[in-house]
Amino acid sequence: MIEDTRPLFGVVGNPVAHSQSPFIHQAFGEQTGRLLQYDRILAPLDGFQTCVDAFFSDGGCGLNVTVPFKEQAWRMAAGKLSPRATMAGAVNTLWLQDGALHGCNTDGAGLVADLERLGHAPSGKRVLLLGAGGASRGAIPALAQTGCSAIHIANRTAQRAVRLRDEMAAQLCAYPVMLTAGGLDDIPHAWDIVINATSSSLDASAAPLSIVIDYAPGALAYDMVYAPQDTPFMVQARNHGASRAADGLGMLVGQAAASFAIWHGVTPAIDPVLAALRARLHG
Ligand code: ATR
Repeated sequence: MIEDTRPLFGVVGNPVAHSQSPFIHQAFGEQTGRLLQYDRILAPLDGFQTCVDAFFSDGGCGLNVTVPFKEQAWRMAAGKLSPRATMAGAVNTLWLQDGALHGCNTDGAGLVADLERLGHAPSGKRVLLLGAGGASRGAIPALAQTGCSAIHIANRTAQRAVRLRDEMAAQLCAYPVMLTAGGLDDIPHAWDIVINATSSSLDASAAPLSIVIDYAPGALAYDMVYAPQDTPFMVQARNHGASRAADGLGMLVGQAAASFAIWHGVTPAIDPVLAALRARLHG
């Protein structure tokens, strides 16, 4: 048997069979001239730490982490977290450096890169963020650091939005962003970018959120979820006056590009890989 000497990377989650990360990272590898192996790793719900330890002690170079292990990965890399990961409370990228496990959260960077690609850079804009869970937590530091003028967190459970706002405001006081929060039924006016970070679109047949949103002229509606067809949120946004609606496939490729840059020291081009991935998903 010939030994596989390609450096080993992977994505660990439960479930993980649906993950597009192997395709994306292989494409980045081809694009940048790097041979690599990238596997899907299904960890038992109570066996994440064992799985990560085994991966790195067997010579693995880098791991992406997905649902439901991002908070656990954050705890495992405590003390060796990037500032973004520290604020996000979740880690999607792990690697070993000087024998210690390090963690970063590249979800926010992926989101911002995709907004820029779509011609809606958040700098100076008013951003409405729907949801106050892990996805919003990852997005807020990256959005604030772009220099957007306002972020309003609106959540079904208003209290949870307010708690997240307070926590983020304490950490982002160096940035001139106006950070506010509330429920879904009292959303203030005129948003340039509206991001759906709730898990509501995960069920394609679910009813759209019962919300009224005032889209500013030229506004973008962005759903962090991706699907072969427009999500209920995207359809609703167009009906309510958004100039453009996009799904989150570009964010997925963007976060992968930021992980790739950490591991390989080179930032791959997103566009060709995004086009290939969309073609693959649409069959
Ligand atoms: P994630 O890590 O994907 O953000 P999460 O932490 O469970 O997952 O958060 C899910 C988010 O989606 C929450 O903001 C949740 O609102 P609540 O805090 O009120 O639970 C929101 N959410 C899920 N389903 C929803 C729905 N049908 N309508 C509105 N908001 C919904």
